[in-house]
Order: sequence, then structure tokens, then C-alpha cells
Amino acid sequence: MSIVNAKEIMVEALKGKYAVGAFNVTDLLQFEAVIDAAVEKKAPVIVQTSVKPSKFLGTKMMVAIYRTLAESAPVPVCLHLDHCTEIDYCKKCADAGYTNIMIDASKQPYEENIRQTKEVVDYCHSVGNISVEGELGTVGGVEDQIKVAEDEAQLANPQQSVEFVERTGLDIFAPAIGTAHGVYKTKNPKIDWDRLATINKMINGNGIKTPLVVHGGTGLPEDYIKKLLAAGGAKFNVSTELKHTLIDAKYEYICAHRDEYDPGKIDVFVRDATRKAVMHWIDMLESAGKA
Ligand code: 13P
Repeated sequence: MSIVNAKEIMVEALKGKYAVGAFNVTDLLQFEAVIDAAVEKKAPVIVQTSVKPSKFLGTKMMVAIYRTLAESAPVPVCLHLDHCTEIDYCKKCADAGYTNIMIDASKQPYEENIRQTKEVVDYCHSVGNISVEGELGTVGGVEDQIKVAEDEAQLANPQQSVEFVERTGLDIFAPAIGTAHGVYKTKNPKIDWDRLATINKMINGNGIKTPLVVHGGTGLPEDYIKKLLAAGGAKFNVSTELKHTLIDAKYEYICAHRDEYDPGKIDVFVRDATRKAVMHWIDMLESAGKA
């Protein structure tokens, strides 16, 4: 069984003290590379699409690619919609066959965040085996259509996190802890892993209820990743790194073979570079051999 929702593989990750890598893709090539890496490493994996690429290719196409690749992969694969601020689009993706939906109402006032998140949770649970991710506090930087200035980013309050998860019925939860989307501006970003550990203890201390997500994976130093893993991070999101890998690999290949007109060779090179980047993440998250 390779088609899974995010919560089921994250519960196993939390029990086994590893984390599942969640990789944002924009096209078929990256999709294949992420799954190739997971198969090679025997790791559970989450493939994510931000709203723009999801709308560009269309939900039916995304889900067709997902099903085609995941059904023949001998590892669990989840298809996640990332940072969606539109309730109707969340519902559309759930209907189409995404298996994890992130409603991001984190920029809304607290009560409105609860209302919108709960509406998506109730809908997705009525459709089928779909888990839902929500966010409290705000992650700085730029991800697809979401932009938060670093000085406006707000960390999640632990007590409010418990209430948020209870009142919304969320399956997996992304508390803001200081990580940021995009490339970190300093070598040692200020990340509050103690806050993540506190929230994890308060929510999952007496039995796993709602596993936690770490956003802003690109550029996190490896020792930070290990601390966040130990603090209870069960899903790590990586987007910018794969965008850079795709563009840099294409550029490198074309520069080195300027007279060649064989797109398939560029694709092989890009796919291989992406597969290697994902395998490195799988090693850091200690999910190799866990599928
Ligand atoms: P990065 O772009 O910093 O890797 O963040 C990815 C992310 O959190 C997507 O939700």
C-alpha cells in the first residue's frame, strides 16, 4: 500500500524517532526524482505541491501523476497541498485525491484561523482518508503566494497550540518556531527548538495525537535538524533547495553542452541531481530503511 496520508507515516516516524521528508515539486521530473530517492533509500516520503504549480498543472494531472508513480512504488507516498489559503481550493484538492491538505489561515486572527481550519478538517474527514495540516504563528519568508516579513513572523504560543489543535481537530500541526521559507539570511538562524519540544510534549506527551511539522527546511544546519528531530519534528518541509537544484542543474548542463539539442539528456541530469539532494535529506532525517 503506497498511497497514504501524512498523519499515518508521521505517527510511525514519531514512534521510531525519525522524520519524514516533505519535498515541494513543480513538475513531473521532480516528482519522479523524489520518489526515486525514497525508493532507493526505502523511506516513506511526502510529495508536496504549492498552490501555483497545482493550479498550473491542474489537480487532476497532479493526482494522476501521483497515483501512477506512488502505486508502483514499494514505499508509502503522500501527496500534500502546501500552504493553501483558499478553503474552496483545499476542498477541490481533497476531492481530486490529494491525501494531505494544508489550510494556511495563520495570517488570520486566531478565531478565524480556527474557523477556517476546522471547516477544512471537517470536509476532508468527510471525503475520506485525508489528513489536514494547519499552522499557528507565522513562518517568515516567501513560499508561493505566502509572504511574511521576517520582523512580522510570530512564534506559536504553546498553550494556544494545544487549544488550536483541540478545537480544530487537526491531524498534523505546524507551530511557528522561528524557521523561515527561502534561504536563511544568517548562518545561525534563531530557531526555538525548546518551544517545539514543549509543544510536542503538551500535545503528544500522553500518546501521539497530532504530530508536528517543521517548515523552512532549506539551509537549516545539520545540527539544527538533529535538534528539531529530537524535539519532535516529524515532517520537514523542503522547497527552495529543490528549486535551486533544478535551475542550477539545468544551467550547468546547458552551459557544458551548448551545442547539444537533446532535452532528454538535460532531464536525466536534473533528475539525478534532485534525487541526490532528496537522498541527502532522507539520511539527515534518519528515515532511510524505515519504509
Ligand atoms: P524552504 O523553501 O525554506 O525549504 O521551506 C519549505 C516549506 O516550508 C514549504 O512549506
